[in-house]
Amino acid sequence: MPLAFHASRAAKYEQQEQNAETYILPFIARGISVDDKSVLEIGCGEGGIIEPFLRRGGTGVGVDLSPEKIAYAEKAFASYIEDGRAEFVAGDIYDDEISGRLEGRFDVAIMKDTIEHVYGHAKILAKIKDFLKPGGVLFVGFPPWRMPYGGHQQMTESRVGKLPYYHLLPRPAYRRLLEMFGESERKIEGLMEVVDTHLSINDFERMVAETGYRVVAKQHYLVNPIYRYKFGLKPREQFGFVSAIPWFRDFLTTTCYYLLTPER
Ligand SMILES: C[S@@+](CC[C@H](N)C(=O)[O-])C[C@H]1O[C@@H](n2cnc3c(N)ncnc32)[C@H](O)[C@@H]1O
Repeated sequence: MPLAFHASRAAKYEQQEQNAETYILPFIARGISVDDKSVLEIGCGEGGIIEPFLRRGGTGVGVDLSPEKIAYAEKAFASYIEDGRAEFVAGDIYDDEISGRLEGRFDVAIMKDTIEHVYGHAKILAKIKDFLKPGGVLFVGFPPWRMPYGGHQQMTESRVGKLPYYHLLPRPAYRRLLEMFGESERKIEGLMEVVDTHLSINDFERMVAETGYRVVAKQHYLVNPIYRYKFGLKPREQFGFVSAIPWFRDFLTTTCYYLLTPER
C-alpha cells in the first residue's frame, strides 16, 4: 500500500481518537459511565473512536463498509484483537449475518458522521435497539444537511467545490456545477448519494421519537469539535437561541451530538 494511504489513515485515526477522548466520551458520560463498557461503532472508519473505551477497560466492535479502513483498524488494534477485546468487521450493517451477531451485546452504540450516509435513517435507528443491552445508549453525531458544508464538499477536488451552501441548489443545477468544475463522475456520484441520504435536525428528532428513543442529552455546535483536529479551529457550542429555532438552526450548526436510550 502507498505511504500516503497509511499517512492519511493514520491522521484520520488520530483525529477520531482525540475527538472521542476530549468531546465524545465526556458527552456520553452525561448519561452513562464510560468505564468497562461494551461498545459498537457502526461506520467506524479507521476505528479511532473505539480506542478511548478500550483504554478504560471496555471492549469494542467496529463495522464498516470499507475493507481498507477495516484493514487499517485491524492493524492499529492488533494487540486488543489478540486479547479478545476488539473485533472489526468489513461489511454492511444491514447484512443479516453481521447484524445477527450483534444482538443484545452492547452498552454503547455509536454512529458518528455515518447516519447521514446510510439509506433508511429510521430503519437503522430501530435496528440499533436490537444491539443494545437493557439500559444501553446510542450516541449519534451528524452534520445537518443545510449547514455550510452539509454536501460533504471536503470530498471534492476543485477549489470551487469547497464553497459553502451551493449543495442546496436543486439537484440538476448542483450536478451541472460540479461537472463544470471538472469533478469526476465517481466523485459526483458520491456527492449525489449524500443528497439522497441527507438529514435535517427536525427529521432526525422526529425519527428519534417515532422509533421509541428518549433523548438523554443533546448538544449542537456552531464549530464542530473535530475542526480543532482537522483545521486548528476552536470548537464552539451553538448559541441557545439559534438551537431553539427549527429549520434556521440547520444553516448555522456544523454538527449535532445526541445521546439516546430506547424507552420502548
Ligand atoms: C464519514 S465516515 C465516518 C467514520 C468515523 N465514524 C468518523 O467519525 O471518522 C462514514 C463511514 O460509514 C461507513 N458506512 C456507510 N454506510 C454503512 C453501512 N451501511 N454499513 C457499515 N458502514 C457504513 C462508510 O464506509 C464510512 O467509513
